[in-house]
Amino acid sequence: MESKYLEKLQNVEAEANTLEKLIEDAQEKVNEPVAKLKNEQERLKYRVNILKRAYEEEVRKDIKHMKNIAQMLRLYFTIAVDKAFPGLEDFPVAVAPTNNPKFGDYQCNVAPPLFAMLKGKVAGIANPRQIADAIVREFPKSIDVIEKLEIAGPGFINVFLNPEYLIEETRTVFLHGALPAPNPCKKRVIVDMSSPNVAKEMHVGHLRSTIIGEGLARLMEYLGNDVLRLNHVGDWGTQFGMLICLLQEKFSNYLTGNKQLPVSDLQTFYKEAKKRFDEDEDFKKRSYACVVELQSLNPEYLKAWNLICDVSRKEFTKIYERLDIKNLIERGESFYQKRMETIVKELDAKGLLEDDLPEGGGALQGIRKIMHPPDKSLPLIIVKSDGGFTYDTSDMATIKQRVEEERADWIIYVTDAGQATHFYSIYKCAKRAGIWDPTKVRIDHVGFGVVLGEDKKKFKTRSGETVKLADLLDEGIKRAGDKLKEKGRDKEMTQEEFNAAMTSVAYSCIKYSDLSHNRVHEYVFSFDKMLEDKGNTAVYLLYAYTRIKSIARKAGVSLEQLQEYGNKSKITLAHPKELKLMKTILKFPETIEKCAAELVLHPMCELLYDIAVYFSEFYDSCYCIEKDSKTGETKIHMDRLLLCEATANVLKQGFDILAIRPLHRM
Ligand code: ARG
Repeated sequence: MESKYLEKLQNVEAEANTLEKLIEDAQEKVNEPVAKLKNEQERLKYRVNILKRAYEEEVRKDIKHMKNIAQMLRLYFTIAVDKAFPGLEDFPVAVAPTNNPKFGDYQCNVAPPLFAMLKGKVAGIANPRQIADAIVREFPKSIDVIEKLEIAGPGFINVFLNPEYLIEETRTVFLHGALPAPNPCKKRVIVDMSSPNVAKEMHVGHLRSTIIGEGLARLMEYLGNDVLRLNHVGDWGTQFGMLICLLQEKFSNYLTGNKQLPVSDLQTFYKEAKKRFDEDEDFKKRSYACVVELQSLNPEYLKAWNLICDVSRKEFTKIYERLDIKNLIERGESFYQKRMETIVKELDAKGLLEDDLPEGGGALQGIRKIMHPPDKSLPLIIVKSDGGFTYDTSDMATIKQRVEEERADWIIYVTDAGQATHFYSIYKCAKRAGIWDPTKVRIDHVGFGVVLGEDKKKFKTRSGETVKLADLLDEGIKRAGDKLKEKGRDKEMTQEEFNAAMTSVAYSCIKYSDLSHNRVHEYVFSFDKMLEDKGNTAVYLLYAYTRIKSIARKAGVSLEQLQEYGNKSKITLAHPKELKLMKTILKFPETIEKCAAELVLHPMCELLYDIAVYFSEFYDSCYCIEKDSKTGETKIHMDRLLLCEATANVLKQGFDILAIRPLHRM
């Protein structure tokens, strides 16, 4: 039978076979280059690793900067763990300094938790000590930082640092100072700090924000970042209505008169305006009208507003000058007026604003616009019922400006801990609105506790008023002066030296007593405590520094002579007190690392205090200048002078970060 399908079948089959062949060929053609590319990729990956290691080695060998010993040890232990037990993704390896020299200088306690995880899964491992053994076996060989590793107890690995390494690092610190490692990924960091309010008191809370903000800004700069300090001054809002209204009433010629406002004490002016506002309906009405004029940028009202801000600005500037705060850029809330209008439109267009009737107020107050964070926590008030903007609106506009216009990589807000909820709502809403992408820009709220008086209650004057910052600084100066006089320093110094010592002691003490406490806690403001010359105080540290700096001077050795010595000579430092001091100053980089990771400064204060303590132990047991009792000849220990100067360099760098100015005499 002749089939009408057979021929077709054969044709189609042949066509299908050809296609299959073509597909196979094509596949081969694709496979080949893919395999090639894969090969190439492997090769490049390998090279990247080699280059990475070479780069690290190069950075490490670049003898100018201080090396982070804890970090290096962490890296070596991670490598060793990885080699001994491959396939563990990022098992956390911590290395901590020890307190007891019996256990070495650092300890790595990774073995017990690793054992808990691997128990029964890896053959031949019956206890954590065997884990420790395996790690030590795989530890990179001939590492110059380490003298030996020892396993103790249930598998703790003790690290003993190599004295030769300590000496070479100390030499580096002496020759070059306490320099940071090069930073290949420099970030643009904005520090929102200080931020007092115009016409209101600049109180101790703003003092904390200024001191902590400055410390963090300096820390970020030390690490090689590009830092922008912004003063988010409260210079906008409804309080200006009543201020301008009173200005018009009292100084009708302020528009034509000379450029300065005849008000020296804005606080009193503010209080008077507030009283009128609360008591006089007509004044209140006119004040509201003034706000509307100001916010619509009427030039006449802008001028009045400017005059008022100028008075505050002068006061603030004086405080910043006294505290050595530089490059703090005033970028108050007023700067964002136009941007607030824009952001409100944007949020509205995205359908993120909801109408809301304020609770209790009823329909009389009118409808306001709010925005909910995604988790339904407290909403932001974006537009008030009278159409005005709020602190929330300004911070939404601020984030947008900083991300888009300033191109910030990292924004740090330094305010009292009480504002934490405000900022969390802002972040959540900014994220919801697509203004902020947390994977691209890092934001931190650095909160701090309240300042207490010696009675453990909120810091106030005796009559219960807020303490004026200028008065506080004045009192500090007076107290520091009294203290120096008690010690007869006024008789040993010139007037100029005495004044320098008095101001440095006063401001350093105020800053240090703030920074040496963990910022999240409240702290007691006590001039008596901070001016003590024993214990963890600025006075103790400043004395230690001047003392160290005077040693080489007394020995008659110039810095140049010492440098020449340091560049060429073999250095011997083997006394336990010398070793202890070297190990302590070399903790500087890891302390910086901790401060930057947690955005705190008290670890730096603790380190500086330890350095001063171990310095004094060293100085008590090791002569730098020695007089032979028989021959009467003096012997100068150059190696020890070098250690003294290296110590001073680290202290100086630490002081710089805390914005403390050391003295040559005090
Ligand atoms: N002016 C505010 C206050 O006195 C602090 C501002 C903090 N910065 C900010 N972006 N909200 O509490």
